[in-house]
Amino acid sequence: MKTFNTLQWIGDIDGCLELTDQRKLPAEFTTIRCRTVEQLYNSIKTLAVRGAPAIGVAAAFGVCLAAQETKKLKLTDALKLIEQKINYLASSRPTAVNLFWALERMKKKLNEVAEIDILQKCLLIEAQKIYDEDVEMCRKIGINGEKFILDNSAILTHCNAGALATAGIGTALAPMFEAQKNGKKFKVYADETRPLLQGARLTAWELKQASIDVTVICDNMAGALMKDKKINAIFVGADRIASNGDTANKIGTYSLSVLAKFHNIPFYIAAPSSTFDLQIQTGNDIPIEQRAADEVSNFMNFMSAPKGINVYNPAFDVTPAENITAIITEKGVIECPTKEKIKNLINH
Ligand code: MRU
Repeated sequence: MKTFNTLQWIGDIDGCLELTDQRKLPAEFTTIRCRTVEQLYNSIKTLAVRGAPAIGVAAAFGVCLAAQETKKLKLTDALKLIEQKINYLASSRPTAVNLFWALERMKKKLNEVAEIDILQKCLLIEAQKIYDEDVEMCRKIGINGEKFILDNSAILTHCNAGALATAGIGTALAPMFEAQKNGKKFKVYADETRPLLQGARLTAWELKQASIDVTVICDNMAGALMKDKKINAIFVGADRIASNGDTANKIGTYSLSVLAKFHNIPFYIAAPSSTFDLQIQTGNDIPIEQRAADEVSNFMNFMSAPKGINVYNPAFDVTPAENITAIITEKGVIECPTKEKIKNLINH
C-alpha cells in the first residue's frame, strides 16, 4: 500500500501540483507546490520529481498550469500559448519518452477543445485520466511480474523504479510489493546508483517503509554478489524502449545486464506501454541526457574530484534487447523481446 503521494493535483482548475520533493529524501519528507509551468520545469530538471512515468504525469498537469495563464485570451491565442509551454516542458529532460507521450496526449486534447470556457476543465480531466491510468498500469505490472519473484530469492534492482517514480506503486518494484502481499519471502539488494543515489536514497527508503528486507550496495559490488550466487533475478525500470526492445534506463543498467548474462541470471525490465517508443527502431536512436559535471565532481556538495576536472556524466545507458530475459508490461509479459512480439503486444 502506497503511504505517500509522489504527486497530486490540489484543488480544481485553478489548483496546483503538489510533489514529494525527492531531492530531500531520505533525510526529510517534504512536499512542494508548483503553481507555474516554470516551477514545474525546474522541479523536473532538478529531479524533485523523477522517474519516467512520474515525469509524464507531472508534465500532463503542467499543461493545466499553462492553461491557467490563458483566462483573458481568445481561444486561438490560448492554444498558441499552451503549445509554447508544452514545448518548454518537453525540453526539461530528453530521455524518458513518457514525458513526450503525455504532452502529446494533452496536445491532442487541446486541439479538440472548441471553446475557451471549457479549456481548463477538459485539460484537467485528461491529466487526471493519465494519472489514474498510470496507477492502474503499475498495479497490473505488479501482478504480471510477481511470478518471476521466487520464494526465498534475492533480487537486485538499480536506481528507483518504485512508487516515487510513478503515480502508482512503481514498475520494477511493483512485482515485489505484489509478492510481499502474497506472502513470499525474498530480499532485495538496492544498487546505490551513482551519482545521484536514487537507489540508496529512494529505493531503500521505499522498501524499508514497506518492511521489505533491503540491503544497499555500492554499484561496483553487484558483480561480486552475482559471482557469489547471491542474486537470483534483476528487476529494473525503463525510460524508453525502442521497437526492437533495446531499453534506456539509469546509467549502470547496461553493465548489470552484461553481468547478468555472464552469470546466467534473469534480467527483467518492468515498464508501462507509455515507455515504448515504436517510432524509433533501435536503442541507437534514444537521446541520452548528459548532466552537469558537478553531480560527479562535487558529489553531495563535497569536493569529490579536483576542481575543474573533466567529467563524463550521462544519466542513462541502453541495454540491448538480447540481454533482456523479459519485459513486464501492464498488457502482459514479452519474453526474449523482438520487434514482432513488442508490436503485437503494445498495439493490441
Ligand atoms: O534520472 P531519473 O532518476 O529520473 O532516472 C530514473 C530511472 O532511470 C528509472 O529507472 C526509470 O525512469 C524507470 S521509473 C519507473
